[in-house]
Amino acid sequence: MLLENRFSVRRFVREDLESVIQINQLCLPENYNSFFFLDVYHNCPEAFTVAEANEKIIGYVMCRIEHGFSDLRRFKLTKKGHVVSIAVISEYRRMGVASSLMKEAIKGLAVYNANECFLEVRTSNESAIALYKKLGFDIVRTISHYYQDGADAYVMARHLNDFGP
Ligand code: ACO
Ligand code: ZN
Repeated sequence: MLLENRFSVRRFVREDLESVIQINQLCLPENYNSFFFLDVYHNCPEAFTVAEANEKIIGYVMCRIEHGFSDLRRFKLTKKGHVVSIAVISEYRRMGVASSLMKEAIKGLAVYNANECFLEVRTSNESAIALYKKLGFDIVRTISHYYQDGADAYVMARHLNDFGP
């Protein structure tokens, strides 16, 4: 049904917290307590974005603003948006929800004048890697044993100032 597939994205509000925690637990092995989610939210409220369908939260993305060495230009200090976590519930995947969430989050990062955006992703997470590549991210390095279970991460990054609508 067409109506079922319709979704919208908007900024996270405090009332979304329980739904976001549930989706995180359902979709990812990296789980956090409510303090952590709110800490990320307070660091970068403009980029914490949720997707909604049929009055239910179906996905989220949250980011931090960080200062540090550029992942794209050697030895340059810069302001970076760190995509801490993104997930979409399985029933709503492959409909463009994560792409919309990422685009909205990136608009939010622009409010803080971040120059680049980066994230870590399991080297085995083909769907997420495909999503990030489609959004213009490149693999910039590998961190071995990044995750608690010993899995490796790719760091993926992209410039922010050349992002279209
Ligand atoms: N296989 C291949 N390519 C895929 C897949 C897949 N299963 N899923 C997404 N893609 C790629 C495709 O290129 C797709 O475009 P297309 O459908 O036109 O071919 C593009 O990504 C955009 O897909 P969306 O529909 O926007 O992505 P979706 O809403 O399905 O969400 C996500 C993708 C977030 C990775 C989802 O599968 C998910 O929640 N997975 C579990 C949680 C997770 O792995 N999160 C990322 C961890 S890393 C981090 O959080 C920083
Ligand atoms: Zn991270």
